[in-house]
Amino acid sequence: MNQLTDYITKSKESTLEELNEFLAIKSISTKSEFASDVRDCARFIADKCKTIGMQNTVVYETKKHPIVYSEFHVDDSKPTVLIYGHYDVQPPEPLDLWESDPFKATIRGEYIYARGVSDDKGQVYCHIKAIEAYLAVHKTLPVNIKLIIEGEEEIGSPNLAEFLKKHQTMLKSDTAVISDTPMINRDLPALCFSLRGMVYAEITVTGPNKDLHSGQFGGVIQNPIQALASIIAKLKDDEDRVTIPGFYDDVLSLTSQEEIYLNAVPLSKDNYLDDIGVNEFATSDEDAIAKKLWAEPTLDCNGICGGYTQKGAKTIIPSQASAKISMRLVANQDPYKIQEQFKTYIKSITPRGVTVDINIHNLAHPAKLSLETPYIHAACEAYKTVFGVSPQFVGEGGTIPVVADFKQILGIDTVMMGFNCPDDCIHSPNERFLVANFFKGIHTSLEFLSRVGSI
Ligand code: BES
Ligand code: MN
Ligand code: MN
Repeated sequence: MNQLTDYITKSKESTLEELNEFLAIKSISTKSEFASDVRDCARFIADKCKTIGMQNTVVYETKKHPIVYSEFHVDDSKPTVLIYGHYDVQPPEPLDLWESDPFKATIRGEYIYARGVSDDKGQVYCHIKAIEAYLAVHKTLPVNIKLIIEGEEEIGSPNLAEFLKKHQTMLKSDTAVISDTPMINRDLPALCFSLRGMVYAEITVTGPNKDLHSGQFGGVIQNPIQALASIIAKLKDDEDRVTIPGFYDDVLSLTSQEEIYLNAVPLSKDNYLDDIGVNEFATSDEDAIAKKLWAEPTLDCNGICGGYTQKGAKTIIPSQASAKISMRLVANQDPYKIQEQFKTYIKSITPRGVTVDINIHNLAHPAKLSLETPYIHAACEAYKTVFGVSPQFVGEGGTIPVVADFKQILGIDTVMMGFNCPDDCIHSPNERFLVANFFKGIHTSLEFLSRVGSI
């Protein structure tokens, strides 16, 4: 490891410059006006793979944004590790809340600030740099590597399952590894064993065929905003539980082992709330915070629009109103079934005098992973070597659609070995990543790959 450490130390400055270049590319997958930036970003990664000596690097086209594939074959007798990450990022808005340009990476104090630095470009780059260092020092790798870096994760990976199915033989691997989940805090790493799934819907309520004078028509014509508000209000009860009939039917309770992991997680309720500037939880059941995030489904309204929202007053009954609603699902819940329950319930609670249209943006299966594998063991040892402590096992409330697909299509489990922190502000203004964790991530990736090589 000494030569590898030397290599990483010596190339520290150039590594940060390369990362800055990667972060400067506006790979915002959800906005079509950035499609060519997304493409540039795929090229950036592909070029990097070629430069460091990876083989068979291909930029695969999809219906939307490209997938970068690259590999390095050492020997059939060695295990094959499939590294996955995403090069697309969330929109940076609201821009006025950023202290520096989201696409001009800036180091302030211990952090690099930029959109995507933590989710997930910085973490993707940890693996790329680890591979680069190993190849530079040893001219080979400890394991066979297959690399998939995609550009549609933040929009639900709509074209990835098809890619996995089509290239099953090419992608055959022993385990996957993803660095896209948080540690407990900067000193305490975490291996994640479950992710929530997703149903993302947009509902549009339509009333009159044009905006109307609210004096001439108010009181006789249904107001679409009022109707939408009434629908949204009926989706959850006063204890913040989802009211869609059947919604909780397939939810399993935690296993006793999961309960043990849950109780071991140090979660300070006060810190949790202070950090986000809120003074109480949505539910009176305050003890169950981690459990709610790991093991219970939920529903959120992500955005709402309709009517007159500009300066001054305008008296109208608007023609339309709409809302974006996401549902996070846990293991054993089926997004296709939940989608149907949602549609049926919405129709049943739609007030008279309006019509409602439901458009599903994306569906993702929840994921539950085995911790009893030699690869998880290798990850524990790798973390221990670099961070000095054993990782904790955690569930996560977020979603990474490919994890369930890896299991279902390729038949492999994923090691979810992340390096970012819960307060890195992913999807928020001033997203950041600890410089120290970025470099520790490179070392942990190296330790992991080396250990898997001797399985
Ligand atoms: N890296 C996140 C997922 C994540 C966040 C896992 C926090 C664990 C903790 C990922 O990039 C993400 O944001 N995924 C989306 C997926 C969705 C669009 C289907 C999400 O969770 O909202
Ligand atoms: Mn991510
Ligand atoms: Mn994300």
